[in-house]
Amino acid sequence: PRVAVLISGRGSNMEALIKAAQAEAFPARVVLVISNNENAAGLEIARGLGVEALAIPARPFGRDREAHERAIDAVLVARKIEIVCLAGYMRLLTPYLVNRWAGRMLNIHPSLLPAYPGVDTHARVLAAGEAAHGCTVHLVTEEMDAGPVLAQARVEVLPGDSEETLAARVLAQEHRLYPAALAALARKIRLPEPGA
Ligand code: GRF
Repeated sequence: PRVAVLISGRGSNMEALIKAAQAEAFPARVVLVISNNENAAGLEIARGLGVEALAIPARPFGRDREAHERAIDAVLVARKIEIVCLAGYMRLLTPYLVNRWAGRMLNIHPSLLPAYPGVDTHARVLAAGEAAHGCTVHLVTEEMDAGPVLAQARVEVLPGDSEETLAARVLAQEHRLYPAALAALARKIRLPEPGA
């Protein structure tokens, strides 16, 4: 399947997905990166790896979030994308885009969902004194960080962990988990294009 990755910033998960998918045996190809933020560092990283990377800012669409998503969807369809991976995409999606891509839109979240949906997960996990933390790849549904779980990786919270050390340990697992979960989904599905 042809895969697009949606980002807003640094793009380290995007980079992990692109690199993993460049291996001959990987069952999917990352062919497109879209960022809502034209200054996202990940756009240049993607281009450096030979992947088309576009910025589609929301600003020209004003408050019409669905119009912004229709612009994104038009590019996804034009490029014959079959699976969409959200990777640090920091905008809430409307039911329009979620339903268009139901069953083939993935997200990675830095917690062991259903625990700690939302932002600042590492700080909240530390504040709560949790012994375990981790990351989750899940299918995207209308409710944020709540779709069916495809894969999880656990990390131990260590004495003396700061938000930064804990985030780094989780991120290393994200970079391993996301390509693995994408490969598993890609092997399982051969879906037609949306609207076909
Ligand atoms: C990751 O921790 C991801 O789980 C979360 O946002 C962060 C994005 O980092 N959704 P990057 O842009 O992939 O480096």
